[in-house]
Amino acid sequence: MGAKPLLRALLLAMLCQPLPAIAQVTGGVDPVGRWTARPAGGAATPPMGWSSWNAFRTEIDEEKVLGSAAALVRTGLAKRGYVYVNVDDGWWLKRRVADGRLIVRSQIFPSAMRGRGAETSLRPLTDRLHAMGLKAGLYTDVGHNACSQAYDLSSPNLPIGTAAEREVGLSGHVDQDIRLFFQEWKFDFLKVDACGLADYSADKSYVSAQGYRPSVPVVVRGEPARTDADRVRASYEEVAAAIRKYAPAAYFSICVWGQADVRAWGKDVGNGWRTSEDITADWTSMLQSFDSTETRALYAHPGAWNDPDMLFIGSGDFDQNHLVEARTHFSLWAIVNAPLMIGYDLRQAPQSLLDIWGNADVIGINQDRAGNQAVPAYRSADLDILVKTMADGRKALAILNRTAEPVHADLTARHLKLAPDKPIKMVNLWDRTKLVIFSGETRLALAPHETLLFMTEGQPELPEGLYLSEMTGSINVAADGIRQAELDPTIHRGISAWSGTKSSGESPMYTGWGGAQPDAAPYGTPLAIAGHGYGRGIGILSNSRMEVRNDRGYAHFKAEVGVDDATRNRSSTVRFSIYGDGRLLAEAGPMSFGATAVPISADLSGAKTIELVARAEDGGASPVTVTWAMARMIK
Ligand code: GLA
Repeated sequence: MGAKPLLRALLLAMLCQPLPAIAQVTGGVDPVGRWTARPAGGAATPPMGWSSWNAFRTEIDEEKVLGSAAALVRTGLAKRGYVYVNVDDGWWLKRRVADGRLIVRSQIFPSAMRGRGAETSLRPLTDRLHAMGLKAGLYTDVGHNACSQAYDLSSPNLPIGTAAEREVGLSGHVDQDIRLFFQEWKFDFLKVDACGLADYSADKSYVSAQGYRPSVPVVVRGEPARTDADRVRASYEEVAAAIRKYAPAAYFSICVWGQADVRAWGKDVGNGWRTSEDITADWTSMLQSFDSTETRALYAHPGAWNDPDMLFIGSGDFDQNHLVEARTHFSLWAIVNAPLMIGYDLRQAPQSLLDIWGNADVIGINQDRAGNQAVPAYRSADLDILVKTMADGRKALAILNRTAEPVHADLTARHLKLAPDKPIKMVNLWDRTKLVIFSGETRLALAPHETLLFMTEGQPELPEGLYLSEMTGSINVAADGIRQAELDPTIHRGISAWSGTKSSGESPMYTGWGGAQPDAAPYGTPLAIAGHGYGRGIGILSNSRMEVRNDRGYAHFKAEVGVDDATRNRSSTVRFSIYGDGRLLAEAGPMSFGATAVPISADLSGAKTIELVARAEDGGASPVTVTWAMARMIK
């Protein structure tokens, strides 16, 4: 071989290498000089719409779907932003073995049957929805089989035929199905469930009874050690790649119920990822779903949203006789930037519920373009205070009474990061006639299960800039230093709707413990360095890297850094580095446990992406808990 062909072969070999991007970009601490999160695309704000699941489970049909779609338009909800109409589980009849094509259950979707001998197609349905000014969503599973085939065995709408014909999930058909859903049928949204990776082990009675192909579970709920998170991620990556190929602007919803450490990688693969098991129409289930998202503000940003599941407003504890609870549910979903997916038969929705879904002020909080998820300013088992900084600097405020008793909340200017000596004006968004004006602090009364929701104005504590904890939507946690996924014990554990009290109890279920947090250390304690507490900052583990978008052109970054008093590793020392567009701007350390915080500041001079890196100097036998106290960007 001559020199040139050799060179060409070498080049070719290099080009054919798998892209190093994912592993290094999302796991590495070395600066990359740019914002590496996926582009916001069609998910610049959380998606809003309607989904069939909470209203009908698998008992869907075309009339119900189109009836709810028509109601979205008729009631004005579509104009308010509810544009997705999502068909969940139950739409399929089988997979045709000859060529692998999915066949629609045209008995319940009559428009899918285009005449004898023709293929079934959901295109007539999506055409109708698009003609109504709406968007269309569909459901599938990343494994061979779907959830209803395990959990809704008495459903009239389960796939039929041989075991192979009933394998309606994506596994082995990713390219074919994604092409069908997007290129041929023109869907705009896809929810991809994971029961096929979790629930089809040989020992399950329904697996043998139904003759399903058994598979060793790679997701074991609540058991991170027995779950193969890498394989789960790889399966979803394959789907993501196909969606990029056929419909780059589509919304990709990952449904692995907070398992497989999705809280860490969901943002790099999909537009939204479920953070919990299925919500039921119960108060305690709602709390569990909410809690699984509440402390994860730093993992979401435009294009990538924490998803505590669809709304259950209209049913059970959130029905028209429980409007306080229904408003709480909506307020919380709005302020944590959750997808707002109505799960109710809209053809017969009473005005009292329409008024909740349709509250433009509350929707406005959810759809704010800055994409800052609310940050907890106070947390307890009884009451929470959450504050979301809007793009224009105003603060949305939610105060949640978790208990069935009336309570008082003492709200301070500090909670809001507003100046304590200047007037603060708050408008109650569920009753705009109610104004609160105070300075310093005020006491508010909450009814049982009530959430007070306000839009608040005052003088910012930092008139010339923002704390990083006020701009979480501009932060991408590229590496958070977690080496071993741990279960978060602070998430509400109510009695399970499925197994009741027959087990020995409800254990922590969701990983994420130790993740980066705004205004709190990774394991939930207040930020503190050498005995000095800080109410503002970012808590994270060592060997971490955060990317911060500097869209507003701030000139300076300032913080005080050190090893947090709550660290488990007290021997390793940590170096803190700040980069601007990949260039080292400032460094501090090495810092050791017990050492007073040191100031660090950087002149950003036009840098678009700031990176904050904390490295344990000896690599760290275990992660060191570190604090970027008072971290802020200023003009
Ligand atoms: C899972 C999902 C639900 C729903 C059902 C459908 O349980 O988490 O949201 O899609 O499957 O079977």
